[in-house]
Amino acid sequence: MGSYPDELRELVDEYLRELSFPGVAATAGLDEAMRYSLLAGGKRVRPVLCLATARSTGADPRDLLPAAAAIELIHTYSLIHDDLPAMDDDDLRRGRPTLHVAYGEDVAILAGDGLFAEAINLFCREQRGEPENVVAALRELAAATGVGGMVGGQYIDVTGKLGDDADALRELHSLKTGRLIAASVLVPLLIAGAPEDELARYRRFADELGVLFQIVDDILDVTSSEAELGKSRSDARHGKLTYVSVFGLERARELAAESHANARAALAEIDGDTRDLEGISDFIHTRQA
Ligand code: IPE
Ligand code: IPE
Ligand code: MG
Ligand code: MG
Ligand code: MG
Repeated sequence: MGSYPDELRELVDEYLRELSFPGVAATAGLDEAMRYSLLAGGKRVRPVLCLATARSTGADPRDLLPAAAAIELIHTYSLIHDDLPAMDDDDLRRGRPTLHVAYGEDVAILAGDGLFAEAINLFCREQRGEPENVVAALRELAAATGVGGMVGGQYIDVTGKLGDDADALRELHSLKTGRLIAASVLVPLLIAGAPEDELARYRRFADELGVLFQIVDDILDVTSSEAELGKSRSDARHGKLTYVSVFGLERARELAAESHANARAALAEIDGDTRDLEGISDFIHTRQA
C-alpha cells in the first residue's frame, strides 16, 4: 500500500498560513473568520492531489502552489456553506465549532463568498504559466465548482431531486464531490498544456477517485465517531441519500473497494511516476477521518 505524501501537505499548509485577505480596517474580522475555517486543519486532499499530479509529470510541485491553494479555498467555502443551518445544520467541523456557530450565520455566508472570490483572485494573480493555459485551468476549476459540479450536486443533495438507483447516486457524488477532486488533478495538467490523450488518462483516474472519496465519506458518517472525524455526522438525521442509506453498509464497502480498484487500474495506464497518486488513492480508501 502506498503512503500519503505528507511533505506535499506541509507545503500546502505553509503556503495557506501565509495567506491573508486584507481589505480595509473594518474587514479585519472577515479575514479572521475566513482564516479560522481555512487553517483549522483538514486533510488537504485536493491541493495535495494537485501537487502530486504535477510531480507525476516531472514538474516542480512548488510551481503549482497558488492553484492548489485556490482549490483548497473553494473547498473550504463549500464546507462552510454545507454546514449552515439551512443546509446540513452542523456544529462541528475540522475539530472546531462550525463558522456560523463561532461567528454567526451572516459572517459565515460572507466568509464562504469571500473565500470563493479570493480563490479566483489568487489564481489569476499568482499562478504562473502560459496565459492561455492558466485560463483553461481556471475555467475547469470554475466549471467544477458551478452548476455542473459542486454547487449543482449540493442542490440535488438538499432538494432530494434524484432517483435512488445506482446511476443517480453516482451522478450526485460525481457532481458534489467528484468534479472538484477531478479538477485538482486536471488543473496542473492544463497549466502545463498537456495533450488530450494524457488528460483523458488522468481524467479516468480522477473521476473514479472523486466518487470513491464520497462513498467513503458516506461510510464514515455511520462508522466513525464525531471525535475521530472532527465533524458532525448528520446524514441519517436529514434522511440523506448516501451509499449507506441506499445499499447498506456492507455493499457500500464493497462498492468502495471496487471503486478503489478501478482508480488504481486507471492509474496504471498513466505514464510517469504515479507513486504519490497511488498513496493518495489508498489513503482515500482506508482513511478513518
Ligand atoms: C469533506 O471533505 C466534504 C466532502 C466533500 C465529503 P474532506 O473530507 O476533504 O474535508 P477536510 O478538508 O479534510 O476537512
Ligand atoms: C458535502 O458532502 C460535499 C460538499 C460539497 C461540501 P457532505 O455534506 O457529506 O460533507 P460533510 O460530511 O458534511 O463533510
Ligand atoms: Mg452536505
Ligand atoms: Mg455536510
Ligand atoms: Mg458527509
